[in-house]
Amino acid sequence: MFKTALLPLIIALIGGSRQAQACGRHPRWDRRGESKLSSRQATDESSAANSTDPSYECLWYSYQPVLDIKGNYPAQYTIAIIQANDTEAQSVFATINATLNSKLPNDVPHGSPTTGPVGVSYSPTDPDCWWSYNLCTTPDSSTGLPADITILPEPMTWGLAFDDGPNCSHNALYDYLQEQELTATLFYIGSYMFDWPLQALRGITDGHEICVHTWSHKYMTALSNEEAFAELWYSRKAIKDLLGVTTQCWRPPYGDVDNRIRTIAQALNLTTIIWYYDTFDWEEGTNGVTSATVDSNYQGIIDRASNGTFATHGPIVLNHELNNFTMSEFIKYAPAIKSALRAVVPFATALNIPQPYADSDITFPTFADRNSKSSTTTNGTTGSGSGAVDGSASPSGSSVSGQASTAAQSGTKAKSAASPLRDRAGYGVLEMLLVITLLIIGTWG
Ligand SMILES: *[C@@H]1O[C@H](CO)[C@@H](O)[C@H](O)[C@H]1NC(C)=O
Ligand SMILES: *[C@@H]1O[C@H](CO)[C@@H](O)[C@H](O)[C@H]1NC(C)=O
Ligand SMILES: *[C@@H]1O[C@H](CO)[C@@H](O)[C@H](O)[C@H]1NC(C)=O
Ligand SMILES: *[C@@H]1O[C@H](CO)[C@@H](O)[C@H](O)[C@H]1NC(C)=O
Ligand SMILES: *[C@@H]1O[C@H](CO)[C@@H](O)[C@H](O)[C@H]1NC(C)=O
Ligand SMILES: *[C@@H]1O[C@H](CO)[C@@H](O)[C@H](O)[C@H]1NC(C)=O
Ligand SMILES: *[C@@H]1O[C@H](CO)[C@@H](O)[C@H](O)[C@H]1NC(C)=O
Ligand SMILES: *[C@@H]1O[C@H](CO)[C@@H](O)[C@H](O)[C@H]1NC(C)=O
Repeated sequence: MFKTALLPLIIALIGGSRQAQACGRHPRWDRRGESKLSSRQATDESSAANSTDPSYECLWYSYQPVLDIKGNYPAQYTIAIIQANDTEAQSVFATINATLNSKLPNDVPHGSPTTGPVGVSYSPTDPDCWWSYNLCTTPDSSTGLPADITILPEPMTWGLAFDDGPNCSHNALYDYLQEQELTATLFYIGSYMFDWPLQALRGITDGHEICVHTWSHKYMTALSNEEAFAELWYSRKAIKDLLGVTTQCWRPPYGDVDNRIRTIAQALNLTTIIWYYDTFDWEEGTNGVTSATVDSNYQGIIDRASNGTFATHGPIVLNHELNNFTMSEFIKYAPAIKSALRAVVPFATALNIPQPYADSDITFPTFADRNSKSSTTTNGTTGSGSGAVDGSASPSGSSVSGQASTAAQSGTKAKSAASPLRDRAGYGVLEMLLVITLLIIGTWG
């Protein structure tokens, strides 16, 4: 009886979590037919950058370099697959697939590409270091995989990034960044780049660091090996074909990554960058998250700058170029961020990677260069460029693929949208303990 009564509670705890982890509902642009092209005459980066009126900025245009390469890519907004005549991708993938099948045979797709880890059976020992399950970012050392980057090695340093671009209406934001002499890391979605290639070009022209945010913004751990590979391959390729550089960093949509996906990313030389603080800007207007919630999230991170939280490291903060609200919200808090922290820099700078692209001599200032004007006595670890400083304890480490008990139904930890800003460390553990406790009580009952 008791057991039955507890089940809905457990399910509610679990079910409530998923939305809160998403890193962005991004409105889909209807795929428009080529016949509707040429509503405006933007032909180069500067002509696309000259307006801050979204009704002009977001007019469709035709761009020959996109038309020239489109045939080599998957359809926009669909889960990517390797193209039939892409022999290069096929051969790179074959090697990766063989590695996966020998190294991680039990790490199979979890959940759904569009709704994520809802109601999934999964071992509570988290053998795959699945972020969406328990915010795991440190794979067991036996995998040979590096930890995901979640914080920065430099103290009092804000890692500035925007997810989900390029946004057709981002000129006001990019103008602001330019005026303030700020550069950021931009996690671009491949399908969006094909719609707004000149906006993407502005990103690199302005000196921002461009990283991969996949082809179609799905939950990566739900995809097959081939699909996950293709999501990374074709978005990395879009950055190369349209912007001329081979990027070496990516961020999983919704943070959804596990060892299988990390292995694919690593084989493509893509460093996995998650975040530590979520502003929840992407969720504004839904699930009880209001603009006041997002305000208090930004303020809460800024306040930590004065209480010693960032004495030995810098925060990586999740925010978006998703819509007017998310972009305006950053602009609103930027002055406070700049005055509270010592530096506001893209990850290439914060991690001391002066040449972040594999095939380009575009350089970013190192942290020391960037920061030479400010004097500071606190100095944390030096940036290695790859390691996270985020603890060394690894979860379980065993590859027990437990039975799908009721406990295994749990899937994800609970997270309340009402208090979205929570230090990442530890909180999944507390909530899992609660679920486990309830299950134990339920079993006794
Ligand atoms: C922006 O550039 C386009 C193309 O050159 C031009 O038609 C348009 O009038 C310009 N808009 C502004 C606000 O300067
Ligand atoms: C691959 O095939 C598509 C048509 O299916 C074509 O548009 C494209 O140019 C081909 N690419 C290469 C590299 O041959
Ligand atoms: C990749 O490996 C999976 C098994 O994990 C297999 O089903 C699939 O056919 C392989 N794909 C290719 C292209 O070899
Ligand atoms: C960009 O932002 C506008 C709001 O300014 C929004 O309507 C649009 O859907 C966004 N997305 C893209 C991909 O441009
Ligand atoms: C990854 O980097 C190595 C070393 O530079 C290079 O040899 C390899 O081709 C790269 N792999 C891919 C898929 O780009
Ligand atoms: C700083 O403030 C935050 C938020 O109140 C708190 O969680 C954290 O423990 C504080 N850190 C220190 C070092 O006082
Ligand atoms: C948001 O919209 C307002 C009103 O249209 C506009 O003035 C402002 O520039 C926009 N902000 C951003 C960051 O796009
Ligand atoms: C921190 O110390 C290291 C080693 O002494 C040095 O290389 C680095 O430039 C310093 N960083 C800053 C921001 O001063």
